[in-house]
Amino acid sequence: MHQHDKAIAEIAEMIQQKYGLYYPPYRWSILRTAATRFMEQHKIEEWDAFLYLLRQYPQELKAFVDANMPHETKFFRILPQFTYLEQHILPRYKAEGKYLRIWSAATANGAEAYSLAISLCRASFTPREAAIVATDMKSQLLTQAKQGHYAPRYLENVPETLRKEFFTRQADGSFQVLPELSAYIHWQTNNLVQWPWPWPEHSFDIVFLEHILIYFSASTINKVLQETERILKPNGYLFLSYSERIPENRQRYWQTVIADNAIVHQLRATPAEDQLPKPAPKAQPRHHRRAPRYQGLQWQRQNNYPPRIASPKTRVAAANTMARKSHTPIAEAIAYYQEGKAALQQQQLEKALHAMDKALYINDQMVEAALIKAGILTQQGQRQEAQRTYRWVLEMLQKPEANILSLDGLNKETMLAICQHNLRG
Ligand SMILES: C[S@@+](CC[C@H](N)C(=O)[O-])C[C@H]1O[C@@H](n2cnc3c(N)ncnc32)[C@H](O)[C@@H]1O
Repeated sequence: MHQHDKAIAEIAEMIQQKYGLYYPPYRWSILRTAATRFMEQHKIEEWDAFLYLLRQYPQELKAFVDANMPHETKFFRILPQFTYLEQHILPRYKAEGKYLRIWSAATANGAEAYSLAISLCRASFTPREAAIVATDMKSQLLTQAKQGHYAPRYLENVPETLRKEFFTRQADGSFQVLPELSAYIHWQTNNLVQWPWPWPEHSFDIVFLEHILIYFSASTINKVLQETERILKPNGYLFLSYSERIPENRQRYWQTVIADNAIVHQLRATPAEDQLPKPAPKAQPRHHRRAPRYQGLQWQRQNNYPPRIASPKTRVAAANTMARKSHTPIAEAIAYYQEGKAALQQQQLEKALHAMDKALYINDQMVEAALIKAGILTQQGQRQEAQRTYRWVLEMLQKPEANILSLDGLNKETMLAICQHNLRG
């Protein structure tokens, strides 16, 4: 045990109580480094003196937290979330013609709020038709945000066309956001762990609460979501980052949609009665399906009826031939993977599973194959096995050396999100 652990434990406790930020023992080294730096800067020699300062002077505790809270952000940080918002959500609200209110709840230096303003603009909302309330605990960040001035690294995710349309490049290479965007945004300080939040119920249609829950303890997350459920309108939308999720005890209030690499949580108008996954209906054996009326041989040939699916043996042979041509195990794995996907399209779950297994056996980096396998197992009602596979995928994805093949257009973040979504609780 480290010499100063008692002091660190007390600091962690104070920060959690006042700001909801969670520092379990495995994150104490961050606090230890920060505290040592803070003490050096302020010429504090004793840990007891430092503790006294934090206990007695809330502004010192705030300064310590502010100095050490990660503020990392960028424009369109998770691009698919914004694309989904622009393509599927905003047009619906626009068609309804009602005033739209969006909350960027931990906006940091405002990149998230301006990104939302750009999305509103692109979806043809005027500042008379929509507003963004942008809040953060740290007022200094909001002062910076109001200036709308950003170093190029914040714009990494901004497509060139949008850069040209909504930013002006300065002589020193930095960017100034278009002043018109400010008309959508209302800046305000707010501490997410001071309840109740200063908004009446059903205040917002959309809430962005990205990259903040990760710093909170389970009980704070629960309370933050409870408040979100209060201030969001029924059927309103909540955006979390891919590494954050709705805890199991609150899932009945939410419907989570994963589409186009985006993850969106929609507040149910009435909580779901039963959240237990229902077992997938068993695939009916072939002879139980009603055969279509006999149509004649010519019709059958023209319509490829009964559908001709190569036997597993033939398909595996084809895969092996393909692999042998290139002599690499990875090609063989890909062949099996393709076979599995083809079978999947035909609803041949067992066969797809068999091929996916082979793909995995041949190359353990085929995480995407495993992900599909886990999906099939879920469909088959084999929950335990599916969970085991999702856990395996998660483990693989989290390995820094994992060389993830993106065969199906899924990126690593999305795959992580899918696993986490399926491994709730
Ligand atoms: C990592 S940034 C996230 C920025 C942005 N949402 C994004 O996804 O890019 C986290 C922000 O949360 C703010 N924050 C931390 N604790 C908070 C609290 N209790 N209430 C409000 N904001 C808080 C920090 O000041 C910081 O700006």
